[in-house]
Amino acid sequence: MSTQPQSPRALVFDSGIGGLGVVQALRTLAPSLTIDYLADTALFPYGEQPDDVLKKRITELIGQACAILHPTIVIIACNTASTLALSALRETLALPIVGCVPPIRWAGRVSTTRVIGLLATSATARRPYLTQLHKDFAADCTLLVHGSRNLAEMAEQAFRGEQLSSENIHAELEQLFQQDQGQHIDTIGLGCTHYTFLMPYFQRLDKADIMWLDPAPAVAQQALRQLGNYVETPTAPSLTAPADRFFFTAIPAEHENLNKHLRWLGFPAGWQCLSFS
Ligand code: DGL
Repeated sequence: MSTQPQSPRALVFDSGIGGLGVVQALRTLAPSLTIDYLADTALFPYGEQPDDVLKKRITELIGQACAILHPTIVIIACNTASTLALSALRETLALPIVGCVPPIRWAGRVSTTRVIGLLATSATARRPYLTQLHKDFAADCTLLVHGSRNLAEMAEQAFRGEQLSSENIHAELEQLFQQDQGQHIDTIGLGCTHYTFLMPYFQRLDKADIMWLDPAPAVAQQALRQLGNYVETPTAPSLTAPADRFFFTAIPAEHENLNKHLRWLGFPAGWQCLSFS
């Protein structure tokens, strides 16, 4: 595991299954790209962790993962991590790092009512990064945010194939619609990568006019653009594609069901549990 890879290798990182929405998009856009996935299950949910703990954890973990796995590019497929640690990671690591931030700019471009909603983790919801995105890219819109303590865990369950209660999903969304001006929301951005796997539930609710914005495909495209530049350099590695790998930092809940779904995403049976110090 300590040798240099023979072809481009993307390291996709999240606290759990959230980044797999980006993996899905990568599979479609670049089926032969080799992917290592690292889920920091030991500290899930990130949205409920204090910022100082999280920032230290993410920078150390990604630094160690890069030293062991030798990725060509790192994709921080987690809003909670990106909005806190992206600049620190870019300062310390000498390889392309693509992040994932709430789709406020996109929402500002498409909203007609100029009232936009954002679903995110509690941590992302309170970040100055979010306030800045709003100010820079959608200042003429009212931004209503719901920082949820529950949706990421619900998404983990949905990914494993468990049936969720529509009432519970509905109750979470009402946290947006019941805010002042909430009845005018026409666009809702997913500010947490986990929520990709709740989209079927969101779309089944009686909210036909809402535009749902999931940035996962755009993150995958951005990574491929960066990777394209990198691969075209004279030191580009050869094209023998090694196997994809999946790593957790702690054994996840219900891992048998999880394994089944990971295989559907093209990961080989059997994942590894890496302990990072
Ligand atoms: N998937 C992560 C995000 O995009 C966070 C989920 C969590 O661990 O709370 O923010």
